[in-house]
Amino acid sequence: MQRGGNRVDSRTGLFALIGDPVGHSKSPDMMNAALREVQLPNVYLAFKVAPSDLKDAVAGFRALGVKGWNVTIPHKVAIMDYLDAVDETAQAIGAVNTVVYEHGKWVGYNTDGPGYLRSVEEAWSLPFFGLNVVIIGAGGAARAVGYTLAKAGVSRITVLNRTLAKAEALGRHLSSLTRSEALPLTEGKKVIEKADLIINTTSVGMFPDRDETPVPVEWFQRGQYVSDLIYHPRETTLLRGAKARGARVLSGLDMLVYQAVIAFEKWTEKEAPVSLMKQVLAASLK
Ligand code: ATR
Repeated sequence: MQRGGNRVDSRTGLFALIGDPVGHSKSPDMMNAALREVQLPNVYLAFKVAPSDLKDAVAGFRALGVKGWNVTIPHKVAIMDYLDAVDETAQAIGAVNTVVYEHGKWVGYNTDGPGYLRSVEEAWSLPFFGLNVVIIGAGGAARAVGYTLAKAGVSRITVLNRTLAKAEALGRHLSSLTRSEALPLTEGKKVIEKADLIINTTSVGMFPDRDETPVPVEWFQRGQYVSDLIYHPRETTLLRGAKARGARVLSGLDMLVYQAVIAFEKWTEKEAPVSLMKQVLAASLK
């Protein structure tokens, strides 16, 4: 019988997720389906690890020969202390979500930003060079998306945030890579109206508060590209409103798939079954 297909025996390899909480995570569904599809004799399990146990968990993973792991809240920053190296993108973003064993070393990567970029490329074939971008929010997700878009050559990024000081801090961080500015959320109308690509990175509109939007949908224009990193609901009120006004819209589901696709490809050096992963993720959110 051909090995693989998530058959579990004494030679089965382990990939993992650590975070707290992890019970809601869709990564095990997506990753196990993908491993099965490419016939690898591995499984992917989620472990709830408290911050005070992170160091021991990593030592345990190393000792047990875990093949690679994902990192989620609240460990994305702290994990960097326990790795052998952190790649340049993850360092600039200040967070690691994927750990890969390379040439005898455990290396931290961030696939959130690159995953976002790939989701936009796949959906719209959008050339990033020269784009005028507005990012709504200034937290970890905004930093990942902002850094990778700036590196990809967009010409301007405006960060809109409820707390102006945080928008200014992110704007300063991006200013060595592109033109950037910061504004309070309430003053976003004039920049959103002129933007090519607008991204909501805040949690406003996430289930169960699905009627909320971080900015009025009337600010969006025909022909704009609007994406929301929220994936539940798949179509937020923001995206529905932007679409009704003639914008092209993209759900956070796509970024969630592609950050996993990039992690999978780094670990296995195989092409990920993208459409299967997307199907499994969409079904698990129903
Ligand atoms: P993540 O890692 O997902 O980016 P985060 O770092 O906690 O999460 O950042 C959350 C972002 O959503 C912040 O920009 C936050 O704005 P503040 O900096 O003002 O807190 C934004 N956010 C969360 N709830 C919000 C709300 N009700 N209205 C406007 N912005 C909100």
